[in-house]
Amino acid sequence: METTRPKQSSAGKIKRLVLTNEGRTKLNTYPDREFYEYPRFVTHVDDRFISTLTSLYTERLRPGSEILDLMSSWVSHLPPEAEYKKVVGHGLNAQELAKNPRLDYFLVKDLNQDQKLELQDCCFDAVLCTVSVQYLQQPEKVFAEVFRVLRPGGVFIVSFSNRLFYEKAIATWRDGTAYSRLQLVVQYFQSVEGFTLPEIIRKLPNAGGAQEEKSPFNQIMSMLGLLPRADPFYAVIAYKNFKPVYE
Ligand SMILES: C[S@@+](CC[C@H](N)C(=O)[O-])C[C@H]1O[C@@H](n2cnc3c(N)ncnc32)[C@H](O)[C@@H]1O
Repeated sequence: METTRPKQSSAGKIKRLVLTNEGRTKLNTYPDREFYEYPRFVTHVDDRFISTLTSLYTERLRPGSEILDLMSSWVSHLPPEAEYKKVVGHGLNAQELAKNPRLDYFLVKDLNQDQKLELQDCCFDAVLCTVSVQYLQQPEKVFAEVFRVLRPGGVFIVSFSNRLFYEKAIATWRDGTAYSRLQLVVQYFQSVEGFTLPEIIRKLPNAGGAQEEKSPFNQIMSMLGLLPRADPFYAVIAYKNFKPVYE
């Protein structure tokens, strides 16, 4: 006799909510689509941040991978020389995404209105989210969806700095410090069953900076506040189920 079982959802199971309702609020309460209606062909972080991120991708992403770039725009931070099987973009502004030379195709959707990714289960080796996690109002659900679309052993790399569209960042992020923001992203991972222990990568501009930055002239300029401030780099990384070991 045939029995009908309830269909199991393969989205990651959310163990607990990280944010309070108050913590999810934004100062600008208009739909995000309106804020991102016009394309911004700018880079949101400095060259050093981008080169740190590209090096991280070189280290963690295997050639031939299938990659989802979540909250993507017109630029890609993937190493230009690396060849991937497929790179899919997911964002809010179609004009920006259409200019991104790395994307095979893209999807446009407001993740604060609906967190479901229109993508199959277990179809990506890596998901990336660059300088954007602070805008998610339902991060637990988005991380659960990322878990669903990742293959076992797939990696989710969330990177950010201290820049933000203040009015569009959630209250918990706005009111936080660098340390609390890192902890927040760690907790987003931990809220979903099955992610490995999150790793934290932190590269602060003054720690081990280039030799010319330590020159007496630059030190004086820095004390006077006349050197442009460099962007700190933070990334939180975890894998679905296990971290693969490659020879
Ligand atoms: C600061 S930009 C970063 C863009 C890109 N990741 C990069 O590294 O340059 C923030 C991005 O988040 C996306 N975004 C913001 N709110 C969103 C939402 N509610 N749903 C989907 N994407 C969103 C926007 O489309 C925008 O491209």
